Amino acid sequence: MKILVTAGPTREHLDPVRFLSNRSTGRMGFAAAAAAAERGHEVTLVTGPVALDTPAGVRRVDVVNAREMLEATRRGLAGNEALVMAAAVADWRPKVCEAVKVKKSAMLPVIEIEPNPDILKTLLPLKGERVFVGFAAETGDPAAEARRKLYEKGLDLIVANDVSLPDAGFAVETNRVTLFGRDAEPVTLPLLSKLEVGRALIAWIEGKAKR
Ligand code: CTP
Repeated sequence: MKILVTAGPTREHLDPVRFLSNRSTGRMGFAAAAAAAERGHEVTLVTGPVALDTPAGVRRVDVVNAREMLEATRRGLAGNEALVMAAAVADWRPKVCEAVKVKKSAMLPVIEIEPNPDILKTLLPLKGERVFVGFAAETGDPAAEARRKLYEKGLDLIVANDVSLPDAGFAVETNRVTLFGRDAEPVTLPLLSKLEVGRALIAWIEGKAKR
């Protein structure tokens, strides 16, 4: 199959040196891309700024902010049969991005922000027969939030994890996830490496594509 994966955080710049972002390191998305390439799929990886090596055999597209990620993902969608949206897209961006570094003396105490587009919701009308997989990083009630996002974002599968656990979520090599599909009971996987979680979700996509 041809699979498009997104990974990492986005950075929403205030000026050339300052930005709003989040704790994502890109590990889960890179692991999903590696797992897909390992199975012989043709993989395109759209990634925000991360400090990770590109997995072997994967075509990488680097972006910085959410709008760039949306455009790169939109462009990639046409030629791909599945989208794995593992990126932690910043929901907000500063209203203004200055072209030169703002002097500390000129800095205002309040940063005005505006919402970024929701990439999955924006691309939903283009989904067609493609398989869409999302992630839900939660610190509250992962199951309820995952189900809400599964339907609101029109996904086939959502991978939910509780990022408040020490062995799941940001900047660790392992993850504890539950897979929520539309037509089956949720499946909770044991503590796994992110590569193994990636393999499980690629296996799910392969199964879905056959059905
Ligand atoms: N996502 C997206 N575009 C955004 C934000 C999120 O496509 N602007 C995708 C993520 O890549 C992920 C899924 O939506 O696959 C869920 O992301 P999450 O951050 O958990 O949810 P949000 O939509 O940001 O919702 P909330 O802030 O209510 O948790």
